[in-house]
Amino acid sequence: MPNSENVPVASETFDAEADWEARYQAGSTRWDRGQPSPSLERWLELTALTPGAHIVVPGCGFGHEVPALAARGFRVTGLDVAPTPVVRLRHELEQAGLQADVVQTDMLAWQPDAPVDGIYEQTSLCALPPGQWPAYERQLHAWLRPGGELFACFMQTGREGGPPFHCALPDMRELFAAGRWDWNDDAGRTDHTNGKYEALYLLIRR
Ligand SMILES: C[S@@+](CC[C@H](N)C(=O)[O-])C[C@H]1O[C@@H](n2cnc3c(N)ncnc32)[C@H](O)[C@@H]1O
Repeated sequence: MPNSENVPVASETFDAEADWEARYQAGSTRWDRGQPSPSLERWLELTALTPGAHIVVPGCGFGHEVPALAARGFRVTGLDVAPTPVVRLRHELEQAGLQADVVQTDMLAWQPDAPVDGIYEQTSLCALPPGQWPAYERQLHAWLRPGGELFACFMQTGREGGPPFHCALPDMRELFAAGRWDWNDDAGRTDHTNGKYEALYLLIRR
């Protein structure tokens, strides 16, 4: 059943670039806060990473967290499949005199040149059809060095369908399995509209 925000997605016929670019072209970006999410501040309170660490922001969209991290001295790579937010984010970085890489790519196919130190995962997993979640988990695991941090903002919608798809915590424990990830305590939550919220967790890649 589609939820109120969107259309159902069949992963076998889904064209991520065309679908997401159409949303940007239509100005249908209700997920966008217009500023960095409070979730980022929560991670920065908890992280062991220090400036200079390489952080990837998959599905970054307009990516307000990318300049926020770059301004703190992190090396940042933002990824998005849609051209429109990539162009805008690059422009904003240039205007602000900040350095970060913003790559237009399918995050299910992209690989870094070398293992990275951290991943900030915000409304990216929940944007993917659940059939793609195991491949996405393999990507996140492959990108990170052992001991690297995944700050995960697991979207809680309590509804069927999506995007955003409900990331039930028991399912997340199975997807980000204990043999591959160490879970830290619940790191709080960030509220969205319509009763949705993100459950925040800091995971360490084993
Ligand atoms: C709900 S939006 C969230 C954007 C941003 N993380 C935020 O919180 O504002 C999901 C984003 O993921 C991007 N996306 C969806 N599928 C993707 C894929 N396979 N590879 C890269 N980006 C993807 C979309 O283009 C979109 O910008």
